[in-house]
Amino acid sequence: MGTRDQLEPIETASRDTLAALQIERLKKTLHTAYERVPHYRKKFAAAGVHPSDLKELSDLARFPFTGKDDLRQNYPFGMFAVPMDDIVRVHASSGTTGKPTVVGYTQGDIDTWSSLMARSIRAAGGRSSDKIHVAYGYGLFTGGLGAHYGGEYLGATVIPVSGGFTERQVQLIVDFRPDVIMVTPSYMLAIADEFERQGFAASDCSLRIGIFGAEPWTESMRAEIERRMGLQALNHYGLSELIGPGVAQECPESRDGMTLWEDHFFPEIVDPDSGRVVPDGKSGELVLTSLTKEAMPVIRYRTRDLTRLLPPAARPMRRIARITGRSDDMLIIRGVNVFPSQIEAVLGREPQLAPHYLLEVRRPHTLDELEVLVEMRPELSGKLNAEQIVALAQKAEHLIKGYVGITATVRVLEPGTVERSQGKAKRVVDRRPKT
Ligand code: DLL
Repeated sequence: MGTRDQLEPIETASRDTLAALQIERLKKTLHTAYERVPHYRKKFAAAGVHPSDLKELSDLARFPFTGKDDLRQNYPFGMFAVPMDDIVRVHASSGTTGKPTVVGYTQGDIDTWSSLMARSIRAAGGRSSDKIHVAYGYGLFTGGLGAHYGGEYLGATVIPVSGGFTERQVQLIVDFRPDVIMVTPSYMLAIADEFERQGFAASDCSLRIGIFGAEPWTESMRAEIERRMGLQALNHYGLSELIGPGVAQECPESRDGMTLWEDHFFPEIVDPDSGRVVPDGKSGELVLTSLTKEAMPVIRYRTRDLTRLLPPAARPMRRIARITGRSDDMLIIRGVNVFPSQIEAVLGREPQLAPHYLLEVRRPHTLDELEVLVEMRPELSGKLNAEQIVALAQKAEHLIKGYVGITATVRVLEPGTVERSQGKAKRVVDRRPKT
């Protein structure tokens, strides 16, 4: 057993020890942000708060939020708290509009990040003796390099495949016999399809554990991946603004939520409209504050991700529930709030439909129209007549109306028609005129 296969002391510490560490780190982070980042100094002053106002953890609620816009206004390097000389790496995430958000790391940050990814892989059941196939994209996206450094830190054998070249993904899994795969859940399904196309039984492959994240997914997708790939599929959460992947990891002992590494990130859940903190257990938007980041401390970052805080289970740290959507992904269709994940969950209830779908929103005249393009299960291809296909579509429309409360037109398509992602899946095309 490698030395990094053991739990870190904080992973078995008491809640009191954890809280003491959090307050100490939070004070330091607030002071650093205030002293070294002019943008934070200005925002704190405008809100009438000073780092010395923080006496206990709940005082954090008095400090202003940080959003993607703050990072954009300070593009590219204005949020950094250290001289450029101390920055050893940058990553960036491309938003849907405008300039990318840029994040920076000191060597200390890279070490912390690697250790958190190693901790996540270990919590998922990975060990230093394992081979890890990394199919998250390498580059400015944090997924590939984050997973890579974490696997090496654990002492495992990393296979840096990156995203794409799906035929080769299958060949490498068959030939190298990895134990763990790290990839987006939607791309995992595309790889499963390719296994079948090449005539291999994916469920017999060597993979034991899958660490899936970077996009929303559902319990029915988990069941499908586990059945088809013969592995344990676990959820993993992170975002570049906070560090990248490595923020929260689902443990096999408690598969109903992801343990948030609270010694490095302090979570709050707020009402997305009022911004007020809500109690643990209540749904809302996740707000995160970094506790150990050197290059770019982040104070009360509004992730836009909707979830709730759950009590600790396998570790003393609290968990976050599966992300149900993003507050800025919400579609308003004829006045009804709809999250793509709600539609996905409903489609997952119909066993004749595959988890490959796309939502198209239009406004041909004055009213919004939602069209749902979804594939039938591969085994049904060529077996359903036109009438049966229409009946299946109507059934799905009925389910959507019943569970989500909106009228949608569903088109059931042949397998392979909906474009596959090689990273984060694109689920919504909004063709409404911009107002
Ligand atoms: O997606 C980092 C990452 C890489 C996480 C690999 C997990 C695995 P960004 O590109 O900045 O960073 O996108 C972050 O992706 O705010 C969520 O909306 C979404 N997201 C990430 N993980 C999950 C998940 C990476 N497990 C944004 N479930 C976040 C749902 C997720 N959404």
